[in-house]
Amino acid sequence: MNNEKKWWKEAVVYQIYPRSFMDGNGDGIGDLKGVMEKLDYLSYLGIDVIWMSPIFQSPNHDNGYDVSDYQNIMDEFGTMDEFELLLEESHKRGIKIILDLVVNHTSDEHRWFQKSCEDKENPYWDYYIWKPAEDGKEPTNWGTWFGGSAWEYNENRKRYYLHLFSPHQPDLNWKNPSVRKEVYDMMHWWLEKGIDGFRMDVINLISKSEDFSDGKLDGLYGNVRPFCLNGPHVHEYLKEMNEKVLSQYDIMTIGEATEIMVEDAKEFAGTDRNELDMVFQLEHMDMGKGQYGKWNDAPVDLKELKDIFQRWQDGLCDVGWNTLFWSNHDQPRAVSRFGDDGAYWEMSAKMLAICLHMMRGTPFIYQGEEIGMTNAGFSDLQEYRDVESLNAYHELVDELGISHEDMMKYLRLKGRDNARTPMQWSNDAEAGFTDAVPWISVNRNYPEINVEKQKQEEDSVLNCYRGVIALRHEKPVIVYGDFNMLLEDSPFIFAYERTLDDVRLTVFCNFTNQNVPCELLSDTEHVLISNYKERAGKILRPYEAVVYEKMN
Ligand code: GLC
Ligand code: CA
Repeated sequence: MNNEKKWWKEAVVYQIYPRSFMDGNGDGIGDLKGVMEKLDYLSYLGIDVIWMSPIFQSPNHDNGYDVSDYQNIMDEFGTMDEFELLLEESHKRGIKIILDLVVNHTSDEHRWFQKSCEDKENPYWDYYIWKPAEDGKEPTNWGTWFGGSAWEYNENRKRYYLHLFSPHQPDLNWKNPSVRKEVYDMMHWWLEKGIDGFRMDVINLISKSEDFSDGKLDGLYGNVRPFCLNGPHVHEYLKEMNEKVLSQYDIMTIGEATEIMVEDAKEFAGTDRNELDMVFQLEHMDMGKGQYGKWNDAPVDLKELKDIFQRWQDGLCDVGWNTLFWSNHDQPRAVSRFGDDGAYWEMSAKMLAICLHMMRGTPFIYQGEEIGMTNAGFSDLQEYRDVESLNAYHELVDELGISHEDMMKYLRLKGRDNARTPMQWSNDAEAGFTDAVPWISVNRNYPEINVEKQKQEEDSVLNCYRGVIALRHEKPVIVYGDFNMLLEDSPFIFAYERTLDDVRLTVFCNFTNQNVPCELLSDTEHVLISNYKERAGKILRPYEAVVYEKMN
């Protein structure tokens, strides 16, 4: 087992989506001042690290994942002075901050891209991926992650540029050493300010294949994946980034790596690889994809979910380190997806907390998850803001013939805006998030689900999260223990054990709303944490979670 001690293995990370976290100046948009106001709340929760989704200058076609200036703060979010103060105040409280590094692409308003579009040759000409037309059309048939063609024509250059996301997010040409140097310089600049690491956006897409040929048709466009996923030079670039930047600081790095398998992860974040510390793999997020990708209403298959976790827990135990998460700003709300946001809302939200946080790896809590926030429940297309959801609606309904009703159902289940409604702080108007009209509607259930209320209730979801976070800090077995799956074949129970020296934890989680018999339960063993007060013999009640602790 790989048990070298590292601070980032012992940490619990909290993801802030600044736009929706807290509005500090009353314009309806979350900002740095708002984050500052809530630092004491984060201390109370007990987390160690904040990961902030992009805070850089951006025209916000993709809420900051389209950066127009990496070294300035987005006007709506505040100023560099405010960021520096936030960093200082966080550090005072023992909380580290990591930032989102979005360098597969920039905004089309970035100075580099503006220069790259000029008709006169200049040093930025080769900063992006430009190709001439093929027979008067796009160079290839590739589609993007957000729908539409991956190529956009530019009149000035009389060429197409590549964008794997929206046309406002042109892909950087990582083959160009000047591009890499600019990125590394910018990273140094932030690290010298004292930030504690990076989450790297779609980092496994940065190296594109040399083969610019058509992809296999998949819906309206050709499949671009074989030409950009884990491309030919990606490891060379990451090793270079590690050598020139990362290795010079004591920081935490996590690469978002889309559609990777355990074997790939070993290459990106293997202990001896000198690349990244961890990856966000998305296998459990991508479960149940169908003909139209994630846009369907397929239920979660617990057996498959368990198989995925087991594969990752076992696969990385000797050579890497896992990230643990149920959700983020691109995913539906955890309790709506994996639990029950109706009758068993509270039990299932706590069960999910316990199930995830007792595993081996670094846990990431997405803002609002700690109070069991649910999907947005929007019934009107007008309420959606996300470019991915709006594009998908038009592509699927207008071009592929899916019914409006079905698509609205899929958006309610899978749309990214489910995770982007404002944080529910209190019972006050707009959930205490803002005094103005929020940029996206608050979830109507805020009077029932909010921080203020749950602070006062001893048995709240919030207090359960505080409990699992505190336990990770107290019990080395939770961080460094061996992982062993139990009851592998059960389609209802997610169970496992963790062992370190003479301590053994056994964890049982019922993922159904039924009583499920389980012979391994005990009424006498010491219970470390559970979401039910008393035991019930050899029965796991609906969404029950129980963790036993035994000393040998
Ligand atoms: C990542 C981000 C997502 C963004 C995309 C393009 O997947 O998490 O929010 O839209 O990259 O930057
Ligand atoms: Ca604001």
